[in-house]
Amino acid sequence: MRSNLQRASARTTMLARERPNRIPPAHNLTVSAQPHAAEPELPSAVPLMALSTGFWAFKTLAAAHALDLFSRLAGGKGTTAGELTQTLGLHQRPAEMLLTGCAALGLLEKSHGRYRNTPLSEAYLVRGKPYYFGGFVQMADKRLYPGWNKLDEALRTNRPTTWDPAVQSSIFDGEDPLVLALFWEAMHSLSTMTARKLGEAVDLGQFRRLLDIGGGSGAYDIELCKQYGGLRATVLELPHVATIAAGKIAEAGLADRIETMDGSFFEQLPKNHDVHLLSMILHDWDEAKNRALLRRCFDALPSGGAVMISELLVNDEKTGPAPAALMSLNMLIETEGRNYTSAEYSAWLEDAGFRQIETIRFDAPAANGTVIGLKP
Ligand SMILES: C[S@@+](CC[C@H](N)C(=O)[O-])C[C@H]1O[C@@H](n2cnc3c(N)ncnc32)[C@H](O)[C@@H]1O
Repeated sequence: MRSNLQRASARTTMLARERPNRIPPAHNLTVSAQPHAAEPELPSAVPLMALSTGFWAFKTLAAAHALDLFSRLAGGKGTTAGELTQTLGLHQRPAEMLLTGCAALGLLEKSHGRYRNTPLSEAYLVRGKPYYFGGFVQMADKRLYPGWNKLDEALRTNRPTTWDPAVQSSIFDGEDPLVLALFWEAMHSLSTMTARKLGEAVDLGQFRRLLDIGGGSGAYDIELCKQYGGLRATVLELPHVATIAAGKIAEAGLADRIETMDGSFFEQLPKNHDVHLLSMILHDWDEAKNRALLRRCFDALPSGGAVMISELLVNDEKTGPAPAALMSLNMLIETEGRNYTSAEYSAWLEDAGFRQIETIRFDAPAANGTVIGLKP
């Protein structure tokens, strides 16, 4: 009986006889270094595979987080797939696949046969840690993922997909228990580390009273008051959110320096603050509402007071960067707004009366910079 190799070699000899000009194929499988002269060189298709399967990576993270994997491994505890079948009640095959997937994504590392948290998962995915990011992972999974599943619909209709505009006037209208449970925990996750980076990038030492307009869970106020001992803050929020913020402020032991104030930023703002913060507020609304809000800031601030707009800023050419451009699409499925550019914010600030407008860059989950204007 002839082997596959013998058969292939006989076939090659025959082909070479039939077509004398044909170069006989090499005996090994190495691809010729010579490109085909007539064919234009194609870009690699590999980035498309990475884009198309981006959700595989996210879903691996979300499932591992939902199973509490990283919290169980906190403090250097390691696991094997076999042990995971006991602790999480998984079958051996998926337990092994989950651990391998998390290791491939940089969420776990393996040594001496055991998987452990990496510094990334230990710092941000273990419940109770000061910069816990799991709230956002959970919101992305349970709320944003289904909304993004209808992105094509949002693009065609210019309407949100995570709530019904026939029933609500905005994402913040009403007290949907799912929104309440997920949204502000997610904002807190995103905003604590972002606030820390903002406080490091901008010198707030000259200010005494911060008004955090639509301050959500109070993450910025807690973090900035920790960084700046002379600062006091007010979280201006819708009543049901102010209650959430009050809880976080009390937990942080800062109730003596941070107060909450029920109210709406669509009405007149309180006057006794020398710095205003708008973090992830303006990307929720259209240009007319934003310009009007900046005018209200101008009216409420004293001379020398400042307003800080903290956002994932789209570049002025509107070509990226990806976190800002994709956050902008996230605003399509969630709001009437979009992520604006530093040039757009600067023009609105100027029109509202602010001067010495500058953009200070930093790198954080929820912002890549802040546009600041001073009231003359
Ligand atoms: C995207 S969140 C940003 C929260 C916070 N600034 C942060 O960065 O973590 C938008 C916030 O605006 C608040 N908000 C919406 N409409 C408001 C209004 N009319 N008055 C006050 N706050 C409002 C929401 O409750 C929500 O907490």
